[in-house]
Amino acid sequence: MSEPAEPTVAAAARVYDYMLGGTHNYAVDRAAAAQTARSFPLAAVGARYNREFLGRVVRFLTGAGIRQFLDLGSGIPTAGNVHEIAQAEDPAARVVYVDYEREAVELGQRILGGNPNATAIRADLREPEDVLSRAGLLDFGEPVAVLMISVLHFITDDEQARDVVRKYVGRLVPGSYLALSHLTWAGGRAGTLQRETSHVYNNTVAESLAIRDVEQVASFFTGLELVEPGLVPLPDWRPDDPDYVPDEDDVPRQVGVGGVGRTRLDVSSDL
Ligand SMILES: C[S@@+](CC[C@H](N)C(=O)[O-])C[C@H]1O[C@@H](n2cnc3c(N)ncnc32)[C@H](O)[C@@H]1O
Repeated sequence: MSEPAEPTVAAAARVYDYMLGGTHNYAVDRAAAAQTARSFPLAAVGARYNREFLGRVVRFLTGAGIRQFLDLGSGIPTAGNVHEIAQAEDPAARVVYVDYEREAVELGQRILGGNPNATAIRADLREPEDVLSRAGLLDFGEPVAVLMISVLHFITDDEQARDVVRKYVGRLVPGSYLALSHLTWAGGRAGTLQRETSHVYNNTVAESLAIRDVEQVASFFTGLELVEPGLVPLPDWRPDDPDYVPDEDDVPRQVGVGGVGRTRLDVSSDL
């Protein structure tokens, strides 16, 4: 089936790519990004915080001995891809990228051409059985890190989001990990701006956003042990800079949290 050359509806993957300075986006995506930027000028900074969080998470996980990654909602391949970081540590590290956006996956496949240990598949992460059956590159008898970075807020139904997470985590052996980041509500003026922005976003981009409370995000880690420092604003999670001090006035820092949970070594998952 041929796809239209120029999409008429913005897509989350391409809006995010544009915010990160990428080139894989269309006029409709740039217009949505510009509208978002008008109501929430610091959205692009938040996108960068998220991508940097992802990089630190993958370095932490490879340091912890993880050699298999299932990156759900991986987005358009942009600088600092998971396989680049993991395979720099160990070329045998295996990565499966999953996204439902055609262009994100096609670009991923092109970038990964000739890489025997990484692949990109087009699938909907809300269908874990399908995704897991196609992630044959990964051995689920060994520890795997499931990454859900800035994607769960696109599953607007709370129960469905929890169920989806449970199904992936339920497949993991002890010593595996779940890493996620998620948009959360800020207080005060930042919260007002955020409400306006999510309204704009929900009216211009194909996907709607479910911004959640930190407690709701924490519930995705039920049955897992959160590694230090827990579920925190993205720049605060294991910062590279030893002199890093959280800036309480930094608005983009207030609109999302991230964390990493480990399946327990002593008992199998009780989910
Ligand atoms: C904001 S981007 C995040 C990209 C990457 N994880 C990161 O943090 O840099 C969200 C991505 O999730 C994808 N996505 C949203 N819902 C999805 C679903 N149900 N199944 C697969 N991909 C999905 C979008 O297409 C988009 O590429």
